[in-house]
Amino acid sequence: MTETNRATTKRPDDELLVYVNGEFKPAAEASVSVFSWGFLYGDGVFQGLAVKEGRCFGFESHMDRFFQSAAYMAIVPPVSRDECEAIIAETARINDLYEGYLRPLFTRGVGRMGLRNVQSLGGGEFFVIPQHERAYTVEEVKANLHRAKTVSVRRIPPASIDARAKLCNYQNNILAVIEHRAAGADTGIMLDVHGFVAEGPAENIFVVKDGEVSTPPRHNVLNGVTRAAIIEVARAQDRLVRERDLTVYDLYNADEVFFTGSLHGIGPVAEIDGRRIGSGEIGDVSLELLLGYRALEEAESFELIGRPDA
Ligand SMILES: Cc1ncc(COP(=O)(O)O)c(C=O)c1O
Repeated sequence: MTETNRATTKRPDDELLVYVNGEFKPAAEASVSVFSWGFLYGDGVFQGLAVKEGRCFGFESHMDRFFQSAAYMAIVPPVSRDECEAIIAETARINDLYEGYLRPLFTRGVGRMGLRNVQSLGGGEFFVIPQHERAYTVEEVKANLHRAKTVSVRRIPPASIDARAKLCNYQNNILAVIEHRAAGADTGIMLDVHGFVAEGPAENIFVVKDGEVSTPPRHNVLNGVTRAAIIEVARAQDRLVRERDLTVYDLYNADEVFFTGSLHGIGPVAEIDGRRIGSGEIGDVSLELLLGYRALEEAESFELIGRPDA
């Protein structure tokens, strides 16, 4: 099948098949019980997998984070890790999802309201929700620089929720998005409760200064799969990389700032709180890291569905 054929046979998002607790259902009919604790309390864990050319970068790292987040919350997945991986791949295949996003999600289960019932729920639920998405090309990344704003809402501290757990409760991050949008910025930067830079609402952040690449330490941020890959690429490019506390001082004085996340890899930042960062264009280091990351993706991604001409 050629690229063109694939595009013409692509189902609209609302006709994609969603995996719901053991069966595939058309998106319009895929629903959850109002008694699901995922719905009642945001009591679930999830992952966001980017599918590019039918392949997924960092699939095993995403699965590690998925099962470790569930273990942290004492959520018992209703499937083994092997079954989970097979069902995710099947969701990509059945939907011919060549460019997209997959959201595997476990909830604690379905049962009576009231936190006292936490141990008497039915078994955990498992969903895999597909959506078409297309990652920016390198040229598009270069053309889409962010105007960011530091927001007043602070990232939940690890003493409350460990930052490495990817939980269904994203209201902290949604407050951050509402705030930066209201201010006319296109993304937000969250600080931790002590005023150190943490991350974006759905991405990690990096600063480049005098050639050195820095990113906030892991205890305050999601252990992003892209973050780890960028650190690996930067070290392979012989750059000095440090995981260290950063403040807005470091942001405002940076030569380059960029976000990282699974879909686009790197999102360069041109402005923070109305202050221009660097030249206002993607910086040299950011660009080399982006190119290195794309090469790593190409070399190491896990094949979910075959290539069109395979
Ligand atoms: C809060 C948060 N930080 C960082 C990231 C980036 O993580 P990754 O690189 O694994 O996509 C995400 C994306 O899921 C996120 O939600």
